[in-house]
Amino acid sequence: MAKTPPPNDLLKHVWLPYTQMQTARQPLQAVSTQGSLIQLADGRELIDGIASWWTACHGYNHPHIQAAMAAQLEKMPHVMFGGLVHEPALKLAERLAAKTPGDLNHVFFVDSGSVAVEVAMKMAVQYWLNKGYSGRAKMVSFRYGYHGDTMACMSVCDPDESMHSLFRDYLPRQVLAELPDAESEAAFDALLEREKHNIAAVLIEPLVQGAGGMKVHAPETLRRVADACRRHGVLLIADEVFVGFGRAGTLFACEQAGVTPDILCLGKALTGGAVSLAATLARPHVYEAFLSDDATKALMHGPTFMANPLACAAANASLDLFETEPRLEQVAKIEAQLREGLAPCAKIPGVLDVRVKGAIGAVQCASLGDAAALREKFAEQGFWIRPFGDIVYLTPAFTIRQDQLAALTSSICSTLPGWLSRS
Ligand SMILES: Cc1ncc(COP(=O)(O)O)c(C=O)c1O
Repeated sequence: MAKTPPPNDLLKHVWLPYTQMQTARQPLQAVSTQGSLIQLADGRELIDGIASWWTACHGYNHPHIQAAMAAQLEKMPHVMFGGLVHEPALKLAERLAAKTPGDLNHVFFVDSGSVAVEVAMKMAVQYWLNKGYSGRAKMVSFRYGYHGDTMACMSVCDPDESMHSLFRDYLPRQVLAELPDAESEAAFDALLEREKHNIAAVLIEPLVQGAGGMKVHAPETLRRVADACRRHGVLLIADEVFVGFGRAGTLFACEQAGVTPDILCLGKALTGGAVSLAATLARPHVYEAFLSDDATKALMHGPTFMANPLACAAANASLDLFETEPRLEQVAKIEAQLREGLAPCAKIPGVLDVRVKGAIGAVQCASLGDAAALREKFAEQGFWIRPFGDIVYLTPAFTIRQDQLAALTSSICSTLPGWLSRS
């Protein structure tokens, strides 16, 4: 069996995400995946509780997605989308328009979630310009929000998490708000009333704010935000890059609030986690604001690999699986199992909260200490669990076996008491 090389050899040329490279620990080397399992180069096998940053909703290497990609690989792995179109993208756009809430009929493909959000913000700003309003260029976003790591995306993330002070001279200034509950609804309304002439859109992660701490809010909160946007004539952008495709219990989280945003961002599980693809969808009134005899009113955006045929084939196959396999029922079962399996954590000293929504389960601790060391501890037990901040969470594949999920929740329940009493 091949041995993993020592850390310095392994990390000689790669620069890891969110990592202080000077003190970077020896990373685990993955060699293959199957279902909810990750095989490592040292021969170990980990049960995966994260689904590769929430993407692999059908488990890894689903044969239907692999077959679709293999067939597409033979025919045409890539062709540019500027001036050419292809069947996988046309079919996918039609299916997304049909499956997303309301009349989100116009699909702009991009290559990652961050770019989907960038495009959404660009669309919102240009929407107002095309309609003859100047000065409506700011976004309202929410505390604990996360929308990606590119510059404009960082400007709408939680200011502490995305280090706004460090990038002060570089980031556009936006408007930060608290998610409005029944008590703070009036304050949110007043904010929109005051700022509406400067605001292009309100940007929200519906129902669960993911990377900002797996914070769950009620559908009524989303409805309040949507209603306030309508009242004040501000566009609503829903970023479902994380919660879209069943993660929060319904195919799209907005469904639970009966809300159709003006613009919707999708990514991550769009291809079932096989390969990167994302999309920004717009309702007709947004799309129509770009129609003109004037060429400058067009949406001037076009990533090189947008609508990559291989990725579109994977996404179409992923949608097939949502149609033919009982994914949302599986999510409901996972939700029940996460509730039961993580409930004992609530009694552990140092645990502040246990939250479950759809196939997302999070244990909020007062302080986790070294999250990377805790990750190693889970890996030693045979689990891929990646705590961040003060959160230990699970976002498994919807196809995870009951015994695999039970092993993950038990590991969290049995590891946290010792860990928290030490840190
Ligand atoms: C809600 C949300 N929006 C946008 C992004 C950015 O997506 P990507 O990492 O594909 O650029 C993420 C990534 O975690 C996300 O959770």
